[in-house]
Amino acid sequence: MSHFRLHDGVLHAEAVALNTIAAAVGTPAYVYSAAALRDAARAFRAGLAAVPRKHLAFAVKANPNLAVLRLLADEGYGADIVSGGEMLHALAAGMPASGIVFSGVGKSGRELAAALDAGIGQFNLELEEEGVVLAALAATRGVRAPAVLRINPDIDAQTHAKISTGRRENKFGVAVADAAGIYARLAALDGLDLRGIAIHIGSQIADLAPLEQAYERVGRLIAELRAAGHAISHVDLGGGLGVSYRAGEIFPTPAAYGAMVARVTRDWDATLMFEPGRFIAGAGGVLLTEVLWVKPGVPRPYVIVDAAMNDLARPALYDAFHEFAAVRPSGARICANIAGPVCESGDTFAMARDIDEVAAGDLAVFLTAGAYGATMASTYNCRALVAEVLVDGDRFAVVADRILPEAMMTAQHVPHWLQHHHALEAA
Ligand code: LLP
Repeated sequence: MSHFRLHDGVLHAEAVALNTIAAAVGTPAYVYSAAALRDAARAFRAGLAAVPRKHLAFAVKANPNLAVLRLLADEGYGADIVSGGEMLHALAAGMPASGIVFSGVGKSGRELAAALDAGIGQFNLELEEEGVVLAALAATRGVRAPAVLRINPDIDAQTHAKISTGRRENKFGVAVADAAGIYARLAALDGLDLRGIAIHIGSQIADLAPLEQAYERVGRLIAELRAAGHAISHVDLGGGLGVSYRAGEIFPTPAAYGAMVARVTRDWDATLMFEPGRFIAGAGGVLLTEVLWVKPGVPRPYVIVDAAMNDLARPALYDAFHEFAAVRPSGARICANIAGPVCESGDTFAMARDIDEVAAGDLAVFLTAGAYGATMASTYNCRALVAEVLVDGDRFAVVADRILPEAMMTAQHVPHWLQHHHALEAA
């Protein structure tokens, strides 16, 4: 059930009318529903009920807001991180270090050292050299770093090319053919507690078949590694489960995913780890925006909203579809293009879309924007960094301030040799 619904003709997040939030916080603003986040977190866990030993690590990249992470920590989720910054967020939100998994193809020595010092729970190694560096850093600290080796199964997840990660030509993981050799060399290092395998083949996956194939490949590799004498206790199956962005789209349920996982991993005898991002956060957020103008256009009008590609990059980057809905729909519909104020034609959210009729001053939302929304925002065109709000029942709070150009400028500096007068006088 969606927690963004009409009550008395006004779109609400749970019990809070979105116009109330716009009046208090301004627009554009992301609005998250705590109930929706909890529902998804619980549904994902329930889907995996048949998996006896598991660890759920929310992919922080999908939504690193501290309030969101705190809520998920309360749901028993750890974190999948890909940078020192994400580690800081997860720790600050109260996630225990032991529940944090460090993924990512380009961890720096400094990040690896900081993660060791913080005592994070597992390093997902992307290449042999990374394991060698990590082992040396751990040895100088007198510890053994818990680690798994990420493999690239060369499987097409059949998703958008920019978010596919499990094909041979992608930058992630080591080739299956090389895995046993690399594993043996890394397992011999004192500084590593090499304990298993990781995989992640892509995001917004709509079909379980490629995931199943990839997991089967992992199963064969586990058997091979065990036969060679390695103890495999942990297998990280990554994230990737997609969500529906359009009414009527059918996606695998957590129950179907869990049934597939339970079947394929039946004999693995290992702790399974999961890194869902979009499934947990996607449906839990909307981007609230105000219509600035309805501009006549050929062959149809442009609805110009105050949110732009810098606030929600997904349509411009991946041609992603986000449903658009008026906060106070009249019932009338129009066919329009929807665009933001940024000076690029790519700053277009939709073309020739059948939408609620809106006029200047109306509020509207882009739906399913809780994952890969605010976190991918920028300040392009010297726009403010978008604000974020969390609704929980009839309460709401600003969980990320709008960062204004005035604040951004305090981090910029004109060097002393350029601080002469005539430029100012000419103004
Ligand atoms: N684990 C690893 C190693 C990943 O690289 C990712 C996502 C995840 C887990 C979480 O995947 P999810 O469950 O959210 O599909 N910005 C893009 C998505 C990029 C995903 C990158 N990696 C978008 O807006 O569609």
